[in-house]
Amino acid sequence: MDGNGRWAKERGLPRIEGHRQGVESVRDVVRTAGQIGVGYLTLYAFSAENWSRPRHEVAALMRLLEKYLRDETDELHENNVRLEAIGCLQDLPGRVQKQLQKTRQATAQNDGMVLVLALSYGSRREITDAAREVARLAKEGKISISDVNETLIANHLYTRDYPDPDLLIRTSGEMRISNFLLWQISYAELVVAPAMWPDFRKDQFLRAIDEYGKRERRFGGI
Ligand code: FPP
Repeated sequence: MDGNGRWAKERGLPRIEGHRQGVESVRDVVRTAGQIGVGYLTLYAFSAENWSRPRHEVAALMRLLEKYLRDETDELHENNVRLEAIGCLQDLPGRVQKQLQKTRQATAQNDGMVLVLALSYGSRREITDAAREVARLAKEGKISISDVNETLIANHLYTRDYPDPDLLIRTSGEMRISNFLLWQISYAELVVAPAMWPDFRKDQFLRAIDEYGKRERRFGGI
């Protein structure tokens, strides 16, 4: 969800105003995704690297996140959305962790779209954690070296319960992956949208889906 800061700067506003408008885009995109039948939507809301931002920006983002979860729980539930989160959740402030737990619990039985928030998330860390766990199982003799295969690794990622993404959308014209789901996007289609995230609403989202629909996916075949 890139471009909040630049969106604000272009308007002479503080960066946090861009994040605040970005929350409106989150609402719009989540609602639209649910309506068109998306099964899983993962939002990269806060990366492991984002902790290095100025303290006041991190604090403001955490407050926005907590408020979003608190304000949206009922609507998510009414729309049959199940909220989940991936990342180093133990690094989040206690208030955010508590609210996350509440929203997860309130929506746990829903069987519509799964909305996954990537929070304090870093893909290399995720893969490293999986490698460490697999090494531990081997050391304890619970698996042998020949048991280590792609399925075993995938089953130790934070995303073990979700399918790999079909489509990765990056906003603000940036052509980087930025440590996001590196393993899982092996065969995802990439769509780079020019709009800054605060301007990325229903229309832009549907355009990206449309573009995805035109792609021919071969998964390495012919
Ligand atoms: C990237 O833009 C955006 C973020 C680091 C934060 C995204 C957070 C939100 C949209 C709000 C909270 C999230 C939810 C799910 C309610 P940037 O700040 O890097 O922008 P720039 O590249 O223009 O500087």
